[in-house]
Amino acid sequence: MRSEQIRASFLEFFQGRDHRLVKSSSLIPDDPTLLVTNAGMVQFKPYFLGSEKPEFSRATTCQKCVRTTDIEKVGHTARHLTFFEMLGNFSFGDYYKQEAIPWGWEFLTVEMGLDGERMYCSVFEDDDEAYDIWRDIVGIPGERLVRLGAEDNFWDMGTTGPCGPCSEILYDQGEEFGCGEPGCKPGCDCDRYLELWNLVFMQYHRDEHGELHPLPSKNIDTGLGLERLASVLQGVSNNFETDTMAAVLHATSDLCGVKYGSGEESDISLKIVADHARAVTFLVGDGVLPSNEDRGYILRRLVRRAVRHGRLLGITDIFLPRMVGVVTEIMGEAYPELKQNNAFIDSIVRSEEERFSQTLRTGLLYLEEAVNELKSGGGKAIPGDVVFHLHDTLGFPLELTRELARERGLDLEEERFAELMEEQRERARAARVEEGYTSRVHEIYAEILDNYGESRFSGYESTSDRATVVSLVKDERAVALAVEGEEVEIFLDQTPFYGEMGGQVGDTGRISSSTAEAEVIETFHPAKGLTSHRCRITRGEIRTSDNVDASVDTERRNAIRRNHTATHIVHWALRQVLGDHAKQAGSLVDPRRLRFDFTHFQPLTKEELARVEELSNRKVIEDLPVRAYVTTYEYATSINAVALFGEKYEDYVRVVEVDEISRELCGGTHVGRTGEIGLLVIAGEVGIGANMRRVEAFTGMEAYRYFHSRREMLEEIAASLKAEVSKLPERVDKVLHRVRELESELRKKGREETASLIDGGIRWNESEAPGGIKILTAAVDNLTAQDLRELAERTLARYAAGAVGIATVNDGKANMVVALSRELVDAGLDAVELIRKAGRLLGGGGGGRPDMAVGGGSETSHVDDALAVMAEEVMAVLKEGHA
Ligand code: SER
Repeated sequence: MRSEQIRASFLEFFQGRDHRLVKSSSLIPDDPTLLVTNAGMVQFKPYFLGSEKPEFSRATTCQKCVRTTDIEKVGHTARHLTFFEMLGNFSFGDYYKQEAIPWGWEFLTVEMGLDGERMYCSVFEDDDEAYDIWRDIVGIPGERLVRLGAEDNFWDMGTTGPCGPCSEILYDQGEEFGCGEPGCKPGCDCDRYLELWNLVFMQYHRDEHGELHPLPSKNIDTGLGLERLASVLQGVSNNFETDTMAAVLHATSDLCGVKYGSGEESDISLKIVADHARAVTFLVGDGVLPSNEDRGYILRRLVRRAVRHGRLLGITDIFLPRMVGVVTEIMGEAYPELKQNNAFIDSIVRSEEERFSQTLRTGLLYLEEAVNELKSGGGKAIPGDVVFHLHDTLGFPLELTRELARERGLDLEEERFAELMEEQRERARAARVEEGYTSRVHEIYAEILDNYGESRFSGYESTSDRATVVSLVKDERAVALAVEGEEVEIFLDQTPFYGEMGGQVGDTGRISSSTAEAEVIETFHPAKGLTSHRCRITRGEIRTSDNVDASVDTERRNAIRRNHTATHIVHWALRQVLGDHAKQAGSLVDPRRLRFDFTHFQPLTKEELARVEELSNRKVIEDLPVRAYVTTYEYATSINAVALFGEKYEDYVRVVEVDEISRELCGGTHVGRTGEIGLLVIAGEVGIGANMRRVEAFTGMEAYRYFHSRREMLEEIAASLKAEVSKLPERVDKVLHRVRELESELRKKGREETASLIDGGIRWNESEAPGGIKILTAAVDNLTAQDLRELAERTLARYAAGAVGIATVNDGKANMVVALSRELVDAGLDAVELIRKAGRLLGGGGGGRPDMAVGGGSETSHVDDALAVMAEEVMAVLKEGHA
């Protein structure tokens, strides 16, 4: 029976018994107490604990699981795997032992046709109820029923959490699988009595103090190893020879040319590669990335072990991506996420293998030298300094060194290594102080990071989360609690709040516990990887270790998301319209607007701006999907994701794609589809430096408000012009035309008035210089500068030769004009000099041309003097010239 048939029969069997078929959950558990999903019950934990109510009381699953506690045994035994599929049936306060035990038996013996005579059952030592069911209802004879202690028959998921006694169904694989020891019986560590199925009677909750409390109801959680059952049904001697695993094993064997079965050591390596390749594929497929901590480290370790065993098999090239391909081919039907993420998984695994290959080359050389030296001196343990150098400088993982040492019959000086590691940590702390973590503030953030690690950001997936307060900081000091009215920085183990970064402002919202309520005023990163929520406590008191609900102001966040995705669209549109040189130089995204700075050498024309806006809105209306994913920097570059010039990126980067049009490295929060942006309006464009422009735009409700306020303005204008909005252009044209008419009429009238002034309205002071030259001056109230000039010109025009000075007091200021005829200028007079002299008297100055100059000042009472000085000066010069 093929694995897929076993899987299908199991799920059908329990669906036929009213179980809801539930999909396997991700290998990244929604549970902070676990690094990876290691059992079928993980996704149901809240149902067992009673903290959430399920919609169904029975469920059945085939769950992907990773367990690495026995990683060293993989390949050495028939049954240990780091990745496996766990078939399970679950009861949430519904049926119990009475049903679970007989169903388990029925499925194995009737559906799968296993020989009941070869099966053993174990129960927890004092679980008479289970014992009796096995003996009396199922009919298992006493010699195949064993009672075992808590070690074997009490299941828990860790130090705390749901747990209970369990009963196991074991299959006797035959003496040839056994260890041959006289005491070999069910429960023995060898491969003879294969534990197929674990039925857990989940009835307790173990608290932090190790005490057991009854759960609200009694539950069933079972786990049947698919690979183990397949190995029995397919009549093979171990998990690695089952249909799904053998394919990976043989692909590896083909690649290295080492036949399976040709040697013990090479078989172990083939098995390790086959197992780890599956674990790696599934882990990366669920979004785990290699790193030096937590689940990232589990993955890194698996990759490294697989690569090393590949090298032991003689494979020198990059090969793990090919194994990933094989796993995907075989398992992709049952787990479509593998197919969907194929390119991504390939790229992550490839770059990790490349990196590690390099490490391995240098590290092995160094280690071999050290080993030779040690052996020639008769030493038994590799010196701590060598282990440390391998670890610290060459990036060699400790357990790899340990394994290599063991293979060579050597130990490690672990204590010395630990000492050196501690010294190293001390140095790092000291360096941090030197590097500017000197202020109290920085120290405190560094401490939080040291003690609790980075804050996990859950805000890409949701805007609210349960979290634990790891630290509170008030006035730059760690405090144990904060009370109503106080301002405090709250640090959580994980948070949905986005801390200000990459031009996007931080989130605001609320953090609340059963005893307190806090308003989050801003969110930021005081140190890399650390998220601070600056809060005001609005009710009660909050303490470290409190469990809290952290919820982001979603309306504000949504506005920010709209603006952020719009920024990418505008960036794209600008490049469409202006060309590829229009590159992002900076941006600001807040809930109200977006600002985008880019390189371009001249102001945008009205048409260009309109086109950018139109293209952007087209993409909004097309409602394109927006996707975000994490990948290696190399891969992102290879697919031309737009990176900010000069920005430093980590090895892993997040790519945000707006359908086919835009692909940028970006850590921000985005809409799921462009349609959510609603509307986009570019509200302005300005220059902000050499070859640098800035556009501002609104989206969503702000864009609506923008247009709405403009419409209201139009309506007001229309009302005051007594026209309909649609008729406004015509109406405004008419009004403007009328205004121009009136202005020209006015001017005409003005000229007539001026003419009549000259013709008799002004009382001139008249004197005559030698040669019949007229000097005319007059003071007239309330004339404009324009009037003055016109009067002067017209008056002068009446005389063949003459000088005219007119002054006026208008609006508290004195103005004056001096005009000279050609002859006087030729005779050496200069209107500018004259007005300067006169102007001084007026408390100011003046300027102009030699034949016409204007000036003035605030001394309005000296107008007559100024005119007199001008006349005298002209007279003096002309007399002199004549003499
Ligand atoms: N939780 C139990 C186990 O993992 C049964 O599913 O073995």
